[in-house]
Amino acid sequence: MTARETAVAVAHPNIALIKYWGKRDEHLVLPVTDSLSMTLDVFPTTTAVRLDPDAAADHVVMDGVLARGEVLRRATTFLDLVRERAGRLERAVVDTRNTVPVGAGLASSASGFAALALAAAQAYGLPGDAEQLSRLARRGSGSAARSVFGGFVVWHAGPPDAADPDHASYAEPVTDAHLDAALVAVVLEEGPKPVSSREAMRRTVATSPLYRDWVTDSRADLARMHTALGEGDMAAVGAITERNALGMHATMEAARPAVRYRTAATDAVLGHIRRLREEGVGAWATMDAGPNVKVLCASADARRIAARMRETTDARVIVAHSGPGARLQRVTA
Ligand code: PMV
Repeated sequence: MTARETAVAVAHPNIALIKYWGKRDEHLVLPVTDSLSMTLDVFPTTTAVRLDPDAAADHVVMDGVLARGEVLRRATTFLDLVRERAGRLERAVVDTRNTVPVGAGLASSASGFAALALAAAQAYGLPGDAEQLSRLARRGSGSAARSVFGGFVVWHAGPPDAADPDHASYAEPVTDAHLDAALVAVVLEEGPKPVSSREAMRRTVATSPLYRDWVTDSRADLARMHTALGEGDMAAVGAITERNALGMHATMEAARPAVRYRTAATDAVLGHIRRLREEGVGAWATMDAGPNVKVLCASADARRIAARMRETTDARVIVAHSGPGARLQRVTA
C-alpha cells in the first residue's frame, strides 16, 4: 500500500468456553493449554492503519485519546513485529475504536489485536492466510488469535517440543459444531481491572498449587467439549463451560498473593443462574479476568434469561450471538 492509503479492519471479541490461562512462553505468547471460544456479534473494534514515512514514532489513538505508556508500548512492539516481517521501516498512524468496555474482562484486547493485526498486515503488505493472521494476532494478545475467526474457534497451544513453536500455535474454526448458542453479558463493572490478565496468569502459573490440576482437567474438558459441540448437546457444553471457568478462577484465587476478580455482585449473578437451572432453564456461567458474568445458553432462551438478569441485578445486560471473524472494511486513498 502507498502511504496515502488507509487499511481499516473490524474484529469482534470472543468469549472462551475452555479458557486460556497461563503462558509457557511470554515472548512468543504460547499458551500452556488449548482453548475454545465463541466469537460474538457485538462490541466490534474498528482499527485504521496508515503508514507515515515522515514520522519518527507510531501515533496511536484509542477511542479518541492519544495512547501513551503501556498501551502505546504494546501497540509499537506489535507493529515492530509486523515491520520486521514485512521488511518495512515506516511508522504507522493507528486509529482504533472499541465498543466494548476496555479492561473489564469482556475481551477488548482480543478484538483490538485481531483488528490491528489485519489492518497492519494489509497496510505493510504482509501476505498470509487467516491461520497465519491468527499467529500474528496471538503475539499482541493471546485471545486475539481466536477473534480472527467467527463462530466456535479452537486455539492450539502446539506441542511443547515443536520445532517451530510459533508456527504450531494458531487458531482455526471448529467446523463440526452444531449448536445455536448465545451469550448474555451481565456487565457489573466497566472500569479497568485491578490486576492485568498478563500479571494474573504469571502469578497463577508460578505460585498456585491448583494450577497443574486445572491444566490436566482443561485438556479433558476440551475433548469433551468437541464431542458436546458435535452432538449439539447444550447442557453438556454449558456444564463444561461453567466448571472450566470456575476452575480457572479457583487457580488464581489460590495464587500467592491471591488474584480475585469475582465480587459479591458476581457471586449473586452466579446464584441467579443456579436458580434458573433449578427452574429448568438451561443457563451456565463463564467469567474472565474481571467481575462480569457471561451466561451461556441456547439462542432461543437468551431473551428470557436477559430479562431475568435485568430484573435481579442493576447490571447492563447485552445479548450476543455467534459473530463473524475479522475482516477488512476498506482501503481508502
Ligand atoms: O488475551 P489475554 O491476555 O487478554 O487473556 C485473556 C484470558 C481470558 O480472557 C481470561 C481467558 C480467555 O481464554 O479468553
